[in-house]
Amino acid sequence: MKEEFWMEKWNREDIGFHQQAPNSYLQEFGTQFFEAGKTVLVPLCGASIDMKWLKDQGLNIVGVELSEKATQWFFETHNLELKITELDGFKIYESENIKIYTGDIFTFKDWDNIDYVYDRASIVALPKDMREQYVSLINKNLSHTSIFMISFSFDNEELGPPFSVDSEKIKRYFSDLFEIERVKEVRTENPPIHGGVLPYIKDSLYFLNPKVK
Ligand SMILES: C[S@@+](CC[C@H](N)C(=O)[O-])C[C@H]1O[C@@H](n2cnc3c(N)ncnc32)[C@H](O)[C@@H]1O
Repeated sequence: MKEEFWMEKWNREDIGFHQQAPNSYLQEFGTQFFEAGKTVLVPLCGASIDMKWLKDQGLNIVGVELSEKATQWFFETHNLELKITELDGFKIYESENIKIYTGDIFTFKDWDNIDYVYDRASIVALPKDMREQYVSLINKNLSHTSIFMISFSFDNEELGPPFSVDSEKIKRYFSDLFEIERVKEVRTENPPIHGGVLPYIKDSLYFLNPKVK
């Protein structure tokens, strides 16, 4: 997916992926997974309300998002006072305990001091070649973190985004460096996404914990 694809989506407000309420898996399992006071990276964060939920649990948030409109949307929605700075080609929107780096995750460099990754609809947003680069970024820079990953899967390798990322792929991508636990999976018949052509979609929650801390 090219940058313009996502910019266009935000500009047209064609953002079916954007949730109005915090993710149900996050609400059900987030408090047992995340420890207050630590830092969570939210790659491809959009304007996700999940970042507000995590912040309200006492975590520090580092988001990375291509679209400045999405970043502004987040801060406006939650009425947060903000400061804007620039670093390494990123425009950083910052408020108490939250920083959103506006720019491309593939040029992000500030990997230090991250304890967790929260991925909801991020790995599935990327086509195969970019997804493999994203997996490499995680394995190279974040193999000491614990990852709360919500992925979607269905029977079609071509359609996307969201693309299908099933448990076999999660295993292939991450099992060298992480212990993988599939915590919950919900199957929905005839989901409305992709023009209603899919017979089903599975929403899966994985916990990835480092094999070596
Ligand atoms: C499917 S949305 C998911 C957003 C968010 N995780 C959520 O749950 O609402 C994917 C987001 O990734 C952003 N994005 C796509 N490619 C990116 C990249 N290379 N670097 C940073 N953000 C990117 C898009 O602009 C979009 O907001």
